[in-house]
Amino acid sequence: MRILYFGDIVGENTIKILENHLDEIKKEYKINMVFANAENVTGGKGLSQKHYKQLKSLGIAAMSMGNHTFSKKEIKDYINDATIVRPANLNADLGKEILYVKYNDKTIALVNMLGRVYTYTPLDCPFKTMDRLLEEIKSDYIIVDFHGDATSEKRAFFYDFSGKVDAVLGTHTHIQTADEEVYNNTCYITDMGMCGPKLSIIGDDKDMVIKRFRSGLFEPLQVSSDKNYILNGVILDLNENSNKIIRFSKEYNLDN
Ligand SMILES: [Fe+2]
Ligand SMILES: [Fe+2]
Repeated sequence: MRILYFGDIVGENTIKILENHLDEIKKEYKINMVFANAENVTGGKGLSQKHYKQLKSLGIAAMSMGNHTFSKKEIKDYINDATIVRPANLNADLGKEILYVKYNDKTIALVNMLGRVYTYTPLDCPFKTMDRLLEEIKSDYIIVDFHGDATSEKRAFFYDFSGKVDAVLGTHTHIQTADEEVYNNTCYITDMGMCGPKLSIIGDDKDMVIKRFRSGLFEPLQVSSDKNYILNGVILDLNENSNKIIRFSKEYNLDN
């Protein structure tokens, strides 16, 4: 089974890029299913119901989130019925901590976990939370989107759960790393990168971000208006004893 998993989708214009190019990508790479991290779609923070529905209609079968899961208040009204998985160690009484997705006769359990290093939200331990979920999960494959800043925390999670899950895929930094590997049949990458405007600082307008750093004040940020886009992610080949991971990175322009 071949899954294309996109890193954090930043800004609603990325939906237009996907509208124009996802079909050709699926054909070229013989993709069976598409998953994505969708925590930054609407204005760079959160996911509105309108954008959720648009991504669904483009064929994004499952969406994981991160620290911006509840940034758009309306998600509370639709998350329970959506194919969205929220961070399992975020002590919320809304949304799913395991999302089951079917493909032919196979079931995939998708889990989302938030890292605790440099994260300023009260969170349960991601390691102990994963121990608990593993006792409950019944599926053919398990994929974890580990949303965090620290490389060390992501790699620790990967080695700790290698052989127990099929993939640990990092998100949140928006910068794709080149360290994809398979260990104990578990696919790993520290960060899948983002899908968003290229001339940007992790998706946002670069001048606004520079101003924020130089002034020391809390300057507002906006998603970059650059028309060149990158789509970053990974392709997972899940096959019982021979899982594979291939880094995915393509560039497109909003006008063509
Ligand atoms: Fe993000
Ligand atoms: Fe994030």
